Amino acid sequence: MTIQEEIKKRRTFGIISHPDAGKTTLTEKLLLFGGAIKTAGAVKSNKIDRHATSDFMEIEKQRGISVATSVMGFEYKGRKINLLDTPGHQDFAEDTYRTLTAVDSVVLVVDCVKGVEIQTEKLMEVCRMRNTPVMVFINKLDREGQDPYDLLDEIEEKLGIKVRPLSWPISMGKTFKGVYSLYEKKLKLFTASKQKLDTDNDISITDLNDPKLDELIGENYAKTLREDVELVDGGYPEFEIETYRSGEVAPVFFGSAVNNFGVQELLDCFIDIAPNPMKRETDERVIEPEESKFSGFIFKIHANMDPKHRNRIAFVRVCAGTFQRGSTYYHTRLDKKFRFSNATAFMAQSKEIIDEAWPGDIVGLYDTGNLKIGDTLSEGEKGMYKGIPSFSPEIFREVINTDAMKTKQLEKGLKQLMDEGVAQLFTYEMGARKAVGTVGALQFEVIQHRLLHEYGASCRFAQMNLFKACWFTSKDKKKLDEFIKSKYRHIAKDKDGQLVFMAESKAWLQMVQDNFPDIDFHFTSEF
Ligand code: G4P
Repeated sequence: MTIQEEIKKRRTFGIISHPDAGKTTLTEKLLLFGGAIKTAGAVKSNKIDRHATSDFMEIEKQRGISVATSVMGFEYKGRKINLLDTPGHQDFAEDTYRTLTAVDSVVLVVDCVKGVEIQTEKLMEVCRMRNTPVMVFINKLDREGQDPYDLLDEIEEKLGIKVRPLSWPISMGKTFKGVYSLYEKKLKLFTASKQKLDTDNDISITDLNDPKLDELIGENYAKTLREDVELVDGGYPEFEIETYRSGEVAPVFFGSAVNNFGVQELLDCFIDIAPNPMKRETDERVIEPEESKFSGFIFKIHANMDPKHRNRIAFVRVCAGTFQRGSTYYHTRLDKKFRFSNATAFMAQSKEIIDEAWPGDIVGLYDTGNLKIGDTLSEGEKGMYKGIPSFSPEIFREVINTDAMKTKQLEKGLKQLMDEGVAQLFTYEMGARKAVGTVGALQFEVIQHRLLHEYGASCRFAQMNLFKACWFTSKDKKKLDEFIKSKYRHIAKDKDGQLVFMAESKAWLQMVQDNFPDIDFHFTSEF
């Protein structure tokens, strides 16, 4: 196959949702349809029990599971699908944000009973930043949920994206009859089944006035469906693939993941319309996937579970050209060449050595500490891929070394954990105080535990009253220097040596912004 054909074949995506909406269940059903697993129940939920956040065994288990299911590759109807897993626990949201930089599209799962929840809103913000195409799956139609029109309005309002239903539910809960696919003009009748793959239950109904519809679902439901479809077709613009691909409009499907219902409709439409790997930007130029020379970037690093072998797996998203095992590639940040002999590909539930990979694929590389998140590998290309920003953390604590004999180990451990993206380290210009910033409180426990068990270093965390870490810029160099001088005590460096302003409170940040109108403050490291 030519590289163009390989690219056309590939669909690389992630599923996002608020915990409990059904992401794990949907993942499992997609893998079942793809023939990648044989029985339901094979995909373990990667969520940490929210009542056991201090149970370290749980944290370790989470790490083990998440490496096994980080990337699930499978073939479906002639397509190669790469499904990138995202952690369910909100304290690991930053990990999810980064994974979203490596996908070409996402499927968003919404619980029809609970509607749009807070974590969904946050994840959608990240998708909007990058105009990632989104498909929505409204799940749990076997329960009495909210009115479909209300759900659609809520999605548009809270998630800031237009929607276009491509299937429509016929009732819900106890009287749920099925869905009508507006995309394929087919009726699918609901049968509750947790095990079966219902693939041959489609009834083609191109004209909704067909009396067959009344026979199948009863006159009343048929009447309502006709009215609903008329309303939907009248109220929403015709579905256009371009507006989906530009991230403006999200096609919506209804179903019940646990019952395998509506999942195939979603998948069939997905492989039709979801984008294949596209061009991506480095800080020097735009790179097309079909370019002959390989390049890609690292979006995730996973430490070895066994502390005795402290090698790590770096996940590379191939963006252009063909990756070849055993080749020597150029590491742009270190300006150095490395040979990667033991590359791994990820298939559902297993890892295997691979010889080649194409744009859209994810390759696992064993690393001994040379790679970090955001690094670009290439065949000499000097530009770094853009779009792997750090987000301002939500919680900050100061690291206090509690074992002076192990200072070196602490430094090393902290550096490696930060390279993995467990948290962000900010080092104050004055006094070299170290602030660790995270999205959730759970990370501090993970860091403390791993520093002790993997590096033999012990530390404690002291409370810090900080609101946000802001990256800042100004067109006026003089004003920038003035600002740095005046706020010197509150300036720190991030992992890449960029200066950040550590704002203590919202009100204070506002005041500083008013006092320094020539300075632009940013909440992500890329602007
Ligand atoms: P998550 O990964 O998004 O956190 O959600 P997950 O798939 O684990 O699903 C959360 C719960 O919702 C699970 O129940 C799951 O069985 C249930 N669920 C998923 N899809 C549907 C659906 O279509 N209808 C209904 N009624 N429930 C659904 P649980 O009680 O937490 O676990 P389990 O013991 O049932 O697996």
